[in-house]
Amino acid sequence: MGNAIKPVEWMGDHVKILNQTLLPSEVKFMEIRTAQQMWDAIKMLCVRGAPAIGVAAGYGVTAAMQEHVDKPVERYHAELEKVIDYLATSRPTAVNLFWALDRMKETGSRHREDANAVTQQALEEQAKAIEQYEENACIAIGENALALLKDGMTLLTHCNAGGLATVHYGTALAPMLLGKERGVHFKVYADETRPLLQGARLTAWELQQAGVDVTVITDNMAGMLMKQGKIDAVIVGCDRIAANGDAANKIGTYSVAVLAKHHQIPFYVAGPVSTIDMNTPTGDDIPIEERDWEEVSCGFGKRTAPEGVKVYNPAFDVTPHELITAIITDKGIVRNPDEAGIAEVV
Ligand code: MRU
Repeated sequence: MGNAIKPVEWMGDHVKILNQTLLPSEVKFMEIRTAQQMWDAIKMLCVRGAPAIGVAAGYGVTAAMQEHVDKPVERYHAELEKVIDYLATSRPTAVNLFWALDRMKETGSRHREDANAVTQQALEEQAKAIEQYEENACIAIGENALALLKDGMTLLTHCNAGGLATVHYGTALAPMLLGKERGVHFKVYADETRPLLQGARLTAWELQQAGVDVTVITDNMAGMLMKQGKIDAVIVGCDRIAANGDAANKIGTYSVAVLAKHHQIPFYVAGPVSTIDMNTPTGDDIPIEERDWEEVSCGFGKRTAPEGVKVYNPAFDVTPHELITAIITDKGIVRNPDEAGIAEVV
């Protein structure tokens, strides 16, 4: 089962992207053929979620390079470099984007002496391999998470780390979706996730479609639910895990982790090994995207703060590893994550 609708799909000559900005009211797809179109789709969050933007970037490179196949080999490779470097400027935090683009770059370098058609084919195969890796990773994360969680638990999640953000089962939502197929049931509270409501619009939508018991709360309700004993565990996705186990995820995740610690509730971070960045030593080194102030003061076209007022809009925050009970990866579970534990799964 997992998510029936694919957020990203290679169509042989273009990329089909589900425009997630329109969910849940409209299910509409976009056709991506150029680097500019893919850059815009990533920047505007039509495709979003760490693994999904990596997969989209791989196919984006493949699609954009088609028009250069008939050019001289030198020119083709110069264009390839340009496309890859350009897509890398679309969003700074999720490392899967750079992980995928590095793989596309390596593939290009390996075929430096070949005809462009051969290189083009290799790029397409690499993009498919990236998608396949992320799909397998989601299933493995789901299996590992199900070994930690118990049937009947009530879980809290933040943002969207489901099939819409990845491929198929998602990461934080994988135990819920995989569990559903196996008769393991969870009750889920989804933080609505200000300012762009990925929890209310996307997590609630995909869990509801899968028949999982989901309830939306506003972000500021989580503490009260924990105090009332209504949450057994928190599980969230991640955009970049530093070498010491600090994890960046959607803004608001850190607050939930602090609340969980105070209430002695396990706080789990789920993510594929492609989200671990050994070149980023600690959470302080993770670049945090800042987005347009209008997302906060005029979200979804409705003015909610006075015109001209100052707004600060960081899109992600970092949860220090001390607040994380375990990181659930496709290669295993890292309990009480630190440098040594992370090094064991990469
Ligand atoms: O800004 P977004 O919607 O791309 O942020 C997404 C998140 O923060 C997700 O939790 C994260 O990418 C994990 S996706 C499996």
